[in-house]
Amino acid sequence: MASTKRDIVDKTIAEDSDSVMNDWAGLPAIYGDVLRRAMDSLFHTFENFSEGTFIVDADARVVWINRRYTARFGFSDPQQAIGRDCEAVIPNSLMREVVNTGKPILLDILEMDREPLVVTRLPLKDDAGTTVGAVGFALFDELKALTPLFSHYSRVQQELIATRQSLAQARRAKYTFGSFVGTSAASLEVKRQAHRAAQLESPVLLLGKTGTGKELLAHAIHGGSSRANQPLVTVNVAAIPDTLLEVEFFGAAPGAYTGADRKGRVGKFELANGGTLFLDEIGDMPLPLQGKLLRVLQDKEFEPLGSNRIVRADVRIIAATSADLPALVAEGRFRTDLFYRLNVLTIHASLLRERASDIEALAYAMLEDLSTQVRSGGSHFELQDDALRLLCAYAWPGNVRELRNTLERAVMLSD
Ligand SMILES: Nc1ncnc2c1ncn2[C@@H]1O[C@H](COP(=O)(O)OP(=O)(O)OP(=O)(O)O)[C@@H](O)[C@H]1O
Ligand SMILES: [Mg+2]
Repeated sequence: MASTKRDIVDKTIAEDSDSVMNDWAGLPAIYGDVLRRAMDSLFHTFENFSEGTFIVDADARVVWINRRYTARFGFSDPQQAIGRDCEAVIPNSLMREVVNTGKPILLDILEMDREPLVVTRLPLKDDAGTTVGAVGFALFDELKALTPLFSHYSRVQQELIATRQSLAQARRAKYTFGSFVGTSAASLEVKRQAHRAAQLESPVLLLGKTGTGKELLAHAIHGGSSRANQPLVTVNVAAIPDTLLEVEFFGAAPGAYTGADRKGRVGKFELANGGTLFLDEIGDMPLPLQGKLLRVLQDKEFEPLGSNRIVRADVRIIAATSADLPALVAEGRFRTDLFYRLNVLTIHASLLRERASDIEALAYAMLEDLSTQVRSGGSHFELQDDALRLLCAYAWPGNVRELRNTLERAVMLSD
C-alpha cells in the first residue's frame, strides 16, 4: 500500500509544482527543488507527527491508512480497512464531504470516545482539477502548539455539559402524579382531570386557594404529557415587576432597552419551546401584557423586544392562580378573551378542610418525607389519635402547605 501513497504524493507534487513553476518562470531552478522538497517533507512531517493519517478515493473509500490510526479504531491490521467506506472505519469522518465539495476542512475537532482529535482534511486533485480523493491528518499529543486552543475547547465543553445538566434538572418536573396524595372524592376527581389534561394539548387553568397543590399539579401534568422530556419553564407573574415582565416573557434584542443585557435576553416563551410554560399567579398579570399573551397564544409566534426576529414557539400553557379569576374578569381587571382562551381544561384544587379524609394520608406521607430530610437519622414518627383529631378539626387556611409547615415544626421540636 506504501506505493499507492507514494504515487499520490508524487502526483500531487508534480502537478502543483508545475503550475507554480509556470507562474514563477525565470527563477533559479533550485527554487523548484526546494518547493518539491517542501511538499514531500510536509507530508512526511505530518505523517510522523500525526496521530493518524489516511487517504480516501473519490468515493470516500479508504486507499491507505497508517497502523497507529487503524489501531485506534479497533483494527489489528491496516489492510482490514482498505477499500471500506471511510465512515465504516472512522465514525463521524467528514472525508466524504471533502471529496464531494473538493474543499478542505483545515481545522476541525473529531469527537472520540477517549479524547477528541484535531483533524485536517485536504482534497487531492488531478490535472483537470477534479477531486480524486482526500488526505486527512489527525493531530493530538505531538502538536503542543495546539494545547492552549485545546484546553480552552475542553474547558468550554465541560462547562457546556455541566450547564446543560443543571438546566435540564431545573426544567424537569419536580413532582409526578405519584407525589399527589389523597383519596377523598375531591382529590380523586382532581387527579382524574389532571391525568386527562396530561393527554391533551390545550391550555390548563388551575384554580384554588394558596397551598392547595396547584404547582404540584402543573408539574405532574407536564411530567405525564408527551412533552415530559422537553423543558418545563415557570414564570411567577406576581414575583416580577410589571416593567420587566414583557422581556421576561418574550426576550429582548441586544441593547433593546436601557439597562438591557449587552447580549440580549432569551424569553421564557422561547426557552419553553417544545415544552410547557407554567404561568403561576396569572391573575396578577397587567392588562397590556394579557393582550400580548393572547396574541402569542393565537399566532404561536412573537418578536422579542427591539428585534425584527420572529420567533415561533410551540408551547403548551398551564396557568394557575389563587385569585378569584371570574371576579377579576367581572371587575375588568382580567381580559375576558384571555380568560376564555385559558379556561378550557379547568381544574379546581379544593380546600384541605373540604377533604379532611386526606389529612391522615397527607400527614404520614409528609412525616415520611420529613424524617429523611430534617433528621438525617431517618427517625420514624407516628401520630397519636388525639393529634390526628386536632389536625382534622383545624380549618387550614394555608391548606396543604400549612399542614406541611406545622408537621415540620412538630418534627423539629419533638423527640
Ligand atoms: N395532594 C398533595 N399531595 C402531597 N403534597 C401536596 C399535595 N398538595 C399540595 N402538596 C404540597 O403542599 C405544598 C404546597 O403546594 P403547591 O406549592 O403546589 O401549592 P399552590 O397551590 O401552588 O400554592 P400557592 O397558590 O400558594 O402558590 C407543597 O409542598 C406541595 O408539595
Ligand atoms: Mg403555587
